Amino acid sequence: MIPILLTRAARPAAYQRAFLAARTLSVWAGIKAGPPDPILGVTEAFKRDTDARKINLGVGAYRDGEGAPYVLPSVLEADKRVLEQDLDKEYLPITGHSTFEQLAAQLAYGADSAPLKEDRIATTQSISGTGALRIAGEFLARHFPHNKTIYLPTPSWGNHTPIFRNSGLEVKQYAYYDKNTVGLDLEGMLRDIQAAPSKSIILLHACAHNPTGVDPTQEQWKRISDVIKEKEHFVLFDMAYQGFASGDADRDAFALRYFVEQGHQIALAQSFAKNMGLYGERVGLFSLVTDSPDERTRVSSQLKITIRPMYSNPPVHGARIASTILEDPALRKQWLGEVKGMADRINSMRAKLKGLLVNEFGSKHNWDHITNQIGMFAFLGITPEQVEQLVNEHHVYLTKDGRISVAGITEHNVRHLAESLHKVTA
Ligand SMILES: Cc1ncc(COP(=O)(O)O)c(C=O)c1O
Repeated sequence: MIPILLTRAARPAAYQRAFLAARTLSVWAGIKAGPPDPILGVTEAFKRDTDARKINLGVGAYRDGEGAPYVLPSVLEADKRVLEQDLDKEYLPITGHSTFEQLAAQLAYGADSAPLKEDRIATTQSISGTGALRIAGEFLARHFPHNKTIYLPTPSWGNHTPIFRNSGLEVKQYAYYDKNTVGLDLEGMLRDIQAAPSKSIILLHACAHNPTGVDPTQEQWKRISDVIKEKEHFVLFDMAYQGFASGDADRDAFALRYFVEQGHQIALAQSFAKNMGLYGERVGLFSLVTDSPDERTRVSSQLKITIRPMYSNPPVHGARIASTILEDPALRKQWLGEVKGMADRINSMRAKLKGLLVNEFGSKHNWDHITNQIGMFAFLGITPEQVEQLVNEHHVYLTKDGRISVAGITEHNVRHLAESLHKVTA
């Protein structure tokens, strides 16, 4: 009951209390907390740790030799040039910055690519790699005329399954990683791709497979292409690490370009988060190879219809930075050198970690996979219990599957990492 003799000023608060009391439950009272993101959870635990030796190898972002985030000098230069132009901040078209679209597609498919020259590739700028994959999922769920099941490698990047499920595709797996060899299970992969109903969708990591760091060789890619062709499957390439794997952007595009040459009508999700360090700028491209310029126009119109209700149009600044780099031959050359520099530092840390484990700490295990694997991550092939020991006893933070981001290793922390890894596996 609301007392009638309240002063005028006190009345609204009293009414509000009465209203809240009368309402039985908050709208969200029944909502349950979901599990934390497995990768971001690692960073949170790392931040809470006060030990000076702590190392964060969970996050998939490049760190320089001092363990600090790295803004590429080519990106700083491009950023400066963009700002000097005093451009407006008008909306981009639905499919984004057209120069960026062209140059990004050229980087992936190669300047000599037949479908690119023949104007048969439909492109759209995307909210980085995740956004490109989400466009792929939405587009395939609506328009792919055959089996709407997407097959992912086991394991795959943790976000793939929710992205494609939320898009309305059914998600299934194919064999990929062999835990006995800590390498590729090529026969299992080919067997599962062969067993999938024909005209299914197969997701392939174009290079630097996340989380395993295990890539097929060029000869193995050729066998994979043959089986996929025989089964008339449709391939969606996820290329989040072009340049990061080998240090050479053309070499890392081998699988994609080979499949296109072989006549596969592929789709592609590209990210510029890692190779340009444009993580938070969210720069990516989604593209589809079509059969003719007319078909490309029709596909493009449906891409626009798919994208418009999702986010209307993409952000402009990062695309301007990326296109400034790709457009200017000197800046592009500088950037490619910087990508190689990042890949080289990662590879030197792989060699150093293995060298310390074997030569300095005398580990009897075979750690060749650390240097055989490629890209930002190494899959250590250790048990969840050993991962827990690394975290709890040695302040080394990594994901439960035993994946470390090699980009987080430096000259300063590699010895502590090697010693800890040796202790938990001895
Ligand atoms: C395999 C793979 N695909 C896509 C992405 C997408 O990243 P982003 O949305 O930051 O470009 C990542 C990022 O870690 C990845 O590892």
